[in-house]
Amino acid sequence: MLVVHTIAALRAALPVPGTCTFVPTMGNLHEGHLALVRQAAAHGLPVVTSIFVNRLQFAPHEDFERYPRTLDRDCEMLKPAGCDIVFAPDEHELYPEPQTFTVQPDPALADLLEGHFRPGFFTGVCTVVLKLFNAVHPRVAVFGKKDYQQLMVIRQMTRQFALPIVIEAGETSRADDGLALSSRNGYLSEDERAHAIELAQALRALADRFRAGVGPLALLETQSMQALTARGWQPDYLTVRHQLNLTAPTDADDRNGAWVAIAAARLGATRLIDNLEFNV
Ligand code: PAF
Repeated sequence: MLVVHTIAALRAALPVPGTCTFVPTMGNLHEGHLALVRQAAAHGLPVVTSIFVNRLQFAPHEDFERYPRTLDRDCEMLKPAGCDIVFAPDEHELYPEPQTFTVQPDPALADLLEGHFRPGFFTGVCTVVLKLFNAVHPRVAVFGKKDYQQLMVIRQMTRQFALPIVIEAGETSRADDGLALSSRNGYLSEDERAHAIELAQALRALADRFRAGVGPLALLETQSMQALTARGWQPDYLTVRHQLNLTAPTDADDRNGAWVAIAAARLGATRLIDNLEFNV
């Protein structure tokens, strides 16, 4: 496995565009990332994994500075998972000058949910992902469904810019108790970790009640948020959306269809996100 830090070295290793698969990450890897790498490797092309903590997608009060940088450990994990090239640029390599050109995603999708609570987040994500795509030139890129809205935004960007890249979704990997794997789980105290599964449970309960039609969605959401709050969480959102475009169902909508229950909530100082696809 090759570890490169510059775009020039990456291009030298992969001179022909469209001949690799790609998994972008911010490092501090866990089994969820490795599952995405294994999925990418199944295409039989060289696999590139990028490791870059992207300042542009963090608000000033967020965890950019303390986000764990664990390159050596990450590389040890990536090799047996089937990664061929690790692309680990420093900030100067990706942002040699202030990044004054940015990608502005469609607000109809990017200003909802995560974008509402983290203004500018998807601009930062799209800008770095477009730069990474330009550096790596992958044929296929794999993004985890845990970042559900991110996956949708990247798909839309790839489509609208006619990038010759297939965006593949990877299923969410979960711990034995059902907690979605996330680099930020490492911030949880032992006690918080024991409670963290309550987020996935709240999604399941909301989906079940929505399916059963026990009340208008607004009421179900309020009750679900209250139940989570009573357990010590601070939810940003806990809602049911159309899988197609993340718009909210109206009470007039037929509930038959493809839905996603989706949530972000803080447990102590740690903000977790999760989602659950379901059909009615
Ligand atoms: O999902 C992530 O880890 C990041 O948002 C990504 C896609 C690597 C861009 O920095």
